[in-house]
Amino acid sequence: MVVLGIETSCDETGIALYDSKKGLLGDALFSQIDMHVDYGGVVPELASRDHIQRVLPLISEVLDQAGLKKADIEAVAYTRGPGLVGALMVGACVGKALAWAWDVPSIGVHHMEGHLLAPMLEDNPIAFPFVALLVSGGHTQLVQVDGIGQYHLLGESVDDAAGEAFDKVAAMLGLDYPGGPAISLLAEKGTEGRFRFPRPMTDRPGLDFSFSGLKTFTLNTVAKCREASDVELSEQDRADIARAFQDAVVAALTIKCRRALQQTGMKQLIIAGGVSANTSLRESLESMVAKEGGELRYARPQFCTDNGAMIAYAGCQRLVAGQNDGPEVVPVPRWPMDQLEAVN
Ligand code: KG4
Ligand code: ZN
Repeated sequence: MVVLGIETSCDETGIALYDSKKGLLGDALFSQIDMHVDYGGVVPELASRDHIQRVLPLISEVLDQAGLKKADIEAVAYTRGPGLVGALMVGACVGKALAWAWDVPSIGVHHMEGHLLAPMLEDNPIAFPFVALLVSGGHTQLVQVDGIGQYHLLGESVDDAAGEAFDKVAAMLGLDYPGGPAISLLAEKGTEGRFRFPRPMTDRPGLDFSFSGLKTFTLNTVAKCREASDVELSEQDRADIARAFQDAVVAALTIKCRRALQQTGMKQLIIAGGVSANTSLRESLESMVAKEGGELRYARPQFCTDNGAMIAYAGCQRLVAGQNDGPEVVPVPRWPMDQLEAVN
């Protein structure tokens, strides 16, 4: 089955074609970062308007890439939620309208299920069951995954998401939105151990996370350095703070992932979402999982952040199993993942 995937939940328009037999056939993305950068974050109304302009040209682009025609598309998958309601509305309306015009089924996909399954787009995917760490701009969750739609939440952030903390700390250091990649680059020049930031919630049992205290700790460190230098932070101060912050986030995530594997008795770990593109996190988890005798999987960097391929893939799994939507267009800005239907 050839499935068109449409992702418009936030600030990226992602379109892809996925074939249940041949795999990924085409994939294109338009990022709105340049449009939002002056505001230091995503402006929802601007995001929705831009998605409207991008969706159809990107669909033509992926059809060309794949050497296919509209008539070859056998189903449409679009992101139904969670996300910005206006942005979701664009993908849902276009997706449903096209499916109706082409007389093919459509399905609304959960954005985080898309992220969770994105590592399956790579060679040598692992089989269910496994533990998934979902780390994006809006979510930080540990999930026991027994199959598609069989998600048991093990723990989550009680305040900020990991990606959100990266973005806020980046702003404190004068880096542009989105902050994750910028912090990671700056941290490479940082001195290990000059500052030691706390590893939140690792000294007590459980699998929940917290990142807002770390944010305040960073802010206080920035203020202290400023006082000491009497002017702006030096380049080295900024790099050392970025390094200390990233090391703390990575350590906290690694400790909780090890605990989740031990608690569930599972050996396989998947990481997904924008923060899973972080090299330091990948390296730390690789070494932890190797010590546990397990396996780690993640997607290539462009499929860690928002993209159409993950939506086409996740939608395809459900459509092939016979699931699809009714005619109504209902974006769901808040949507717990454990409410999803299982695919048997
Ligand atoms: O999954 P995603 O593209 O969108 C959401 O669903 O939220 O994640 C975006 C988040 C942003 O907060 C961004 O700063 C973070 O992922 N991110 C990273 C890296 N690349 C993106 N964080 C740390 N290191 C990275 N290399
Ligand atoms: Zn996302």
